[in-house]
Amino acid sequence: MSSVPRITLNNGVTMPQLGFGVWQVPDDEAATAVARALEAGYRSIDTAAAYENEVGTGRAIAESGVPREDVFLTTKLWNTEQGYDATLRAFDASLERLGTDYVDLYLIHWPVPMFDRYVDTWRAFEKLATDGRARAIGVSNFQPPHLERLLAETSTVPAVNQVELHPHFQQEQLRTFNTAHHIATEAWSPLGQGKDVLTEPSVGAIGRKHGRTPAQVVLRWHLQLGNVVIPKSVTPSRITENFEVLDFELDAEDMSAIAALETGSRLGPDPSTMDFMG
Ligand SMILES: NC(=O)c1ccc[n+]([C@@H]2O[C@H](COP(=O)([O-])OP(=O)(O)OC[C@H]3O[C@@H](n4cnc5c(N)ncnc54)[C@H](OP(=O)(O)O)[C@@H]3O)[C@@H](O)[C@H]2O)c1
Repeated sequence: MSSVPRITLNNGVTMPQLGFGVWQVPDDEAATAVARALEAGYRSIDTAAAYENEVGTGRAIAESGVPREDVFLTTKLWNTEQGYDATLRAFDASLERLGTDYVDLYLIHWPVPMFDRYVDTWRAFEKLATDGRARAIGVSNFQPPHLERLLAETSTVPAVNQVELHPHFQQEQLRTFNTAHHIATEAWSPLGQGKDVLTEPSVGAIGRKHGRTPAQVVLRWHLQLGNVVIPKSVTPSRITENFEVLDFELDAEDMSAIAALETGSRLGPDPSTMDFMG
């Protein structure tokens, strides 16, 4: 089996380019899904305080027999916990639920710009990084104006920006911005949530050409673009299928056929107006 390529983040920490996401997986099922993912070979797991499955995720890692240091664990700070002191408290609570004493990557889940606390929040993230409790710190759903403020007002460039990204919403400008600032781009909903992206006729045709499924074609496209990907599945066969994307290559024609699928339509909220506080 080919090994998962690793991306070197701007602080020298490396992270697997292919990981496993657990959004919308209830806590008890998360334990099973994460256990299956670790068995299948995934070594990067993406959870969040808001997913309410940090306990199951942490338990699966602890019980897997895979050494903690071989697993790249990401969690995220929820919107209601933004602000310097609240962030430090929320981080402690996440570690407690995860049953670990550090995370590999801690992300601000959304900028919530109308709340105007992400700069203070980021200063708390910088402390967590300095203290070695988060090996890397980053953001999620940040757009260039939010990133520019962090760059201007703080001293740490986010290591990662995790954003909605799939063939229908390719984020070309944001990817260029991230790259110019040495911020790794991580794609959420990389399969377009398993819906319309996977039934695109050209994706199916590329799959037939390579003897691969539509999901494998889409994940391969991400890897070749340089994105970090974290597909989610609770289905054992799909957990394996999504990991088997390291031993084939899309050609230039395939890549441009997928580039042509951009629709400009998001599946999730617009980060500049998203203000969920629940
Ligand atoms: N930072 C953020 O704001 C944010 C937002 C959304 C997501 N995320 C992260 O990104 C991860 C992935 O995104 P996502 O869960 O929204 O969507 P996704 O990974 O694009 O798609 C997941 C959906 O596709 C289905 N699926 C998975 N593999 C498949 C395959 N091989 N063939 C057909 N269908 C397949 C899954 O069904 P089954 O599970 O039933 O197999 C599930 O319904 C999340 O789990 C989370 O960790 C972050």
